[in-house]
Amino acid sequence: MELDRLVEVLVERVLARLEGRLPLPSVRPDPWAKPQPLVAANWKMSFPKEVATQTPAGVKEALAEYLSGVCESPLERVDTVVFPPATLIAPLAEAVSEAGVAVELGAQNMHPAESGAHTGEISAPLIRAAAGRWVIVGHSERRAASESEDEVAAKVKAGLDADLGVILCVGEKLDERERGAMFGVLRLQLRSALAPTALRPPLPAKLAIAYEPVWAIGTGKKASTDQIAEVAAFVRQVVSEVYDHARGERIRILYGGSVKPENALEVMEVGDIDGLLVGGASLAGDSFARIVEAADQAKRGRGRSPVTEVR
Ligand code: PGA
Repeated sequence: MELDRLVEVLVERVLARLEGRLPLPSVRPDPWAKPQPLVAANWKMSFPKEVATQTPAGVKEALAEYLSGVCESPLERVDTVVFPPATLIAPLAEAVSEAGVAVELGAQNMHPAESGAHTGEISAPLIRAAAGRWVIVGHSERRAASESEDEVAAKVKAGLDADLGVILCVGEKLDERERGAMFGVLRLQLRSALAPTALRPPLPAKLAIAYEPVWAIGTGKKASTDQIAEVAAFVRQVVSEVYDHARGERIRILYGGSVKPENALEVMEVGDIDGLLVGGASLAGDSFARIVEAADQAKRGRGRSPVTEVR
């Protein structure tokens, strides 16, 4: 093609894009950018107060009401994930799609196998089939119910292999902190949970680590910001050792344990904290919305996190 003709064609294309006659080329999000804050609602085995109802129609209405509270928050700037009891994932997914709100859903636990004779369990493919995109692994309430480090590790790998986002929970008990065993416990939990994925580590947006001191869960005794900062820095260091420096910097670290609308901002202002895992205070849509709002506010105050080159 002659040069003049080439220029003409290019100019015509640019004009067509600007005038909307041709779609703009899609800009793919950079998978290596530090992901935006992540705030997760863990309903455990409870219904939000709006969902305390008996019939499927009542449940549907109540879930919509919960979401109408949540949608008051800046959902476009905060990855917001709700983990209802497994039986409510599908109805909640329907309510989310009807309301058109940017909320993702996940399961509070899963079995590492894809299918099989495991009565009462659910697998990653079943979570995906119910429109769940996330799973919580290794919550202390499950560890207390005898979940081993090996089981936690197998679940992390199975979740990531199925392309679910995984929130891995780690945390020390009070006596472990008091007798100076905390860092050893956390190191063991992290190293063993991440080891099976060390050769093929996940993209930063796919894995989050929730620091949940067992003594702070459901007790009203939130850890202090100094305690949270100390552990969050330690978690980054161990993730860097097991995976690499880039992931150590970018993988989101959440704090969980007695987070409420009143203390969410101070936790989110801790430098290494990128999000929150909220139990009791996530059971009302408006309370959870205020926590999401605090996460956004803290991030805007902090500005963009420095992103270093991926090696
Ligand atoms: P809590 O629970 O916010 O009710 O303390 C947190 C959790 O267990 O994830």
